[in-house]
Amino acid sequence: MSAKDVSVFYGDKKAIDGVSIDIPTEYVTAFIGPSGCGKSTFLRTLNRMNDTIPSARVEGAIELDGQDIYRSGMDVVQLRARVGMVFQKPNPFPKSIYENISYGPKIHGLAEGKDELDAIVEKSLRRAGLWEEVKDRLQDSGTALSGGQQQRLCIARAIAVDPEVILMDEPCSALDPIATAKIEELIAELNGRYAIVIVTHSMQQAARVSQRTAFFHLGKMVEYGRTSDIFTNPLEQRTQDYITGRYG
Ligand SMILES: Nc1ncnc2c1ncn2[C@@H]1O[C@H](COP(=O)(O)OP(=O)(O)OP(=O)(O)O)[C@@H](O)[C@H]1O
Ligand SMILES: [Mg+2]
Repeated sequence: MSAKDVSVFYGDKKAIDGVSIDIPTEYVTAFIGPSGCGKSTFLRTLNRMNDTIPSARVEGAIELDGQDIYRSGMDVVQLRARVGMVFQKPNPFPKSIYENISYGPKIHGLAEGKDELDAIVEKSLRRAGLWEEVKDRLQDSGTALSGGQQQRLCIARAIAVDPEVILMDEPCSALDPIATAKIEELIAELNGRYAIVIVTHSMQQAARVSQRTAFFHLGKMVEYGRTSDIFTNPLEQRTQDYITGRYG
């Protein structure tokens, strides 16, 4: 994906100011920055989740495989399958584990029959590191799982429709350290197969899971580069101040 000179307004208020960034498939990209700097706002522009906020307006261009995702005629439901999203609070459907995964492939016509659907469900759950834990209880409600399992279920649900990009907005902030470690392992395993963007308030997490980091401050992307450079040798004073805990 690539964003060119993207600005986002809520009414008259500018929340994102002229952000340009390429998000390649080869890397996990972390978005960091103090609360309110616009990380979630910018993340949501990447699959047009901002469309659901009436006051939000996006300027600039965002391309997926070279095509403008804001062009008229863009199928937004299709787009959100190609650019999946995982939220801070796990949000499984109040349906069975099986249906949580099979719903997307069904509505997008990705499976011919029951066998194929079963195979997609198994593959997605395996890829999300959840299969062994749930294979004997696929008819149980997704909401009956632990928080960490629910978050992996949501990742499996995103994977099931064969996305190109997975956006994660603080996916571990509601999880304990063990569940967090599992999500981080999962991100490492998915790396390379999908472009992954993760918003995080944890510098340690950004350093562990990402290869590229973008630092946001007051609606601007101040600095973008290799994660190791951002954390050890940032070019900008504001980045330095943030990573050393001077604000945020
Ligand atoms: N739905 C909305 N309507 C109006 N203003 C909004 C809306 N959502 C966010 N904002 C404003 O846009 C700015 C950026 O918010 P955003 O949620 O993107 O920040 P963030 O970096 O994700 O913060 P946090 O780390 O706390 O999640 C803030 O000033 C916020 O108040
Ligand atoms: Mg946010």
